[in-house]
Amino acid sequence: MSLDLSEKRGEWVSFFQGEKCFGMINFSQAYFLVVKFRGFVLKRMEEKEMKVKPVMPFKGTKMQETKLMEIIHRHQDEPGALMPVLQEAQEVYGYLPIEVQTMIAEGLNLPLSEVYGVATFYSQFSLNPKGEHRISVCMGTACYVKGADKILEGLTERLGIGVGECTPDGLFSIDSTRCVGACGLAPVMMIDDDVYGRMTVEQLDEILDKYKEKYKTKKK
Ligand code: FES
Repeated sequence: MSLDLSEKRGEWVSFFQGEKCFGMINFSQAYFLVVKFRGFVLKRMEEKEMKVKPVMPFKGTKMQETKLMEIIHRHQDEPGALMPVLQEAQEVYGYLPIEVQTMIAEGLNLPLSEVYGVATFYSQFSLNPKGEHRISVCMGTACYVKGADKILEGLTERLGIGVGECTPDGLFSIDSTRCVGACGLAPVMMIDDDVYGRMTVEQLDEILDKYKEKYKTKKK
């Protein structure tokens, strides 16, 4: 359900603790506070994501390395070569582990800190591998208000990984996303292209089991 601020503006929300009233703010102010708090939580999650150690060891192949060297040689004399090299390197490896960043830094004769800085600044780049099944939890305002953080917590408990990480077997990875345009179904979780609306923590086991089964059948 989307929030219609024009209807709600001017309504007053009271905060009580027991019998005592601590103050009154109008709906717009309350909404603003929720948005600010959500922004703070997201920022902390992103900071945590940057410090995350990859759960899966790097398994680059010789063929991938040869492709990366070709990419570097093709771009190395261009000004601003780093962005296109990172983009193409991510296409080759699926993500940008420190080993790949080091090869890029050496190939373009740049400090590793600069490569790392760009790779972590832009959200299009991922420093961790993605799972066979990519789980995204929408942390847009409507989903957040409806308890998307509880869904994330439930996933973390069940899979033993945090946002931006991949399970050691490579089956699942978790990401948080901005609004996916299905606010009426909040809170929303996606696994690959499947959308799960009005999610509850209780539904998680059954949903995850479905993908585990799919994976087992595929491996047979
Ligand atoms: S906030 Fe819009 S779909 Fe989650």
